[in-house]
Amino acid sequence: MATPQKTFPPPLGGLDYLASAILLLDAGQQVCYANSAAENLLEAAGRALLHRPLNEVMRYTATLQQALDSALSNNWSYTGQNVEIRRGKAADRGETLHLNCTVTPMQSPDAPEVRMLMELQPIDQQLKANREERLIEQQQASRELIRNLAHEIKNPLGGIRGAAQLLERELNNPALQEYTQVIIQEADRLQDLMQRLLSPHRAVLQAQRMSVHEVLERVGSLLKLEFPATLSILRDYDTSLPELTADREQLIQVFLNIARNAAQAMDGKGEIVFRSRSARQVTLAKRRFRLVIDVAIIDNGPGIADDFRERMFYPLVSGRPGGTGLGLTLAQSFVQQHQGTIECESRPGRTIFLIRLPLNAFEPAPTESPQ
Ligand SMILES: Nc1ncnc2c1ncn2[C@@H]1O[C@H](COP(=O)(O)OP(=O)(O)OP(=O)(O)O)[C@@H](O)[C@H]1O
Ligand SMILES: [Mg+2]
Repeated sequence: MATPQKTFPPPLGGLDYLASAILLLDAGQQVCYANSAAENLLEAAGRALLHRPLNEVMRYTATLQQALDSALSNNWSYTGQNVEIRRGKAADRGETLHLNCTVTPMQSPDAPEVRMLMELQPIDQQLKANREERLIEQQQASRELIRNLAHEIKNPLGGIRGAAQLLERELNNPALQEYTQVIIQEADRLQDLMQRLLSPHRAVLQAQRMSVHEVLERVGSLLKLEFPATLSILRDYDTSLPELTADREQLIQVFLNIARNAAQAMDGKGEIVFRSRSARQVTLAKRRFRLVIDVAIIDNGPGIADDFRERMFYPLVSGRPGGTGLGLTLAQSFVQQHQGTIECESRPGRTIFLIRLPLNAFEPAPTESPQ
């Protein structure tokens, strides 16, 4: 962003080095200084902010307005947690930002016109991390519950099936066998479902070094077999990626479950992109990793409604006829075993599932991870 024309002498220029956004306001609540972080936050060059009323450079709540007014008239400071603001004027449909905000009345002999210092610290990242953490905990709890329940259902099923078989042998009227067959077939179906619910936890992962592209290619060819005619699979690979240490079978299952959902959502007609990238110094589920491999599976299908997106990772939650609602549960379980995460963004015409896998997941976690 262009260097603003500051009205202040060099010592205040030091504020440009701060990560917090700083705005200095005069008695009319006009901006008389904005540091670089404020320019970035408000997405405006300093020139566009200077000498403009604060309520023109951003929109905010009546509570914050009152706080500014009383900071001016009573010399009171104000600290607000999780304050919402929007960039620009009311007519713009700017995105909502969440911030911690401190307003301090001030009087400086260097700059007599300055009456208030406003400090803004974006917390969107922190809120997102908290939300993700809460979701992961909820999902873990519900998976645990389902697993326990599946155990309880699975045990007597064998007995029910065996008893139906014995009964069948004793039946003299073959027409009645239809009923015992229903019991046996339904017991088998339930047994199979319970098995799928119980299988995610492999105690020891069979980790090996592999190219993530080789895994994606395998998934691509499996998908092409399933949806031969009208599905096109495009590749956007970063070929310089290092090899990953992971459980190959689990990784295939993860990518396949996600890509298959995409193909099913599009009725097998549409485009799926496999994209690979790397990212440095990433924090996933509170642990910091030096290098992370990001695989994005992108489709141009109908998209996923916001309220459903929160729930779709839960077991037995499905949005399609005939779905068991286990594909994403399994995928997430496997990715978590690799210390990774799955994120999803979606709008009609573009759905992205981002699978983030740390390269060094199987190294012991440092006792204290610097953030
Ligand atoms: N790319 C996508 N586009 C649209 N909807 C999706 C997409 N991915 C997942 N979904 C929705 O999420 C639901 C849950 O997916 P999940 O894989 O967990 O279960 P399922 O596909 O219904 O059943 P299963 O995979 O166990 O056979 C799907 O039924 C579908 O409604
Ligand atoms: Mg599925």
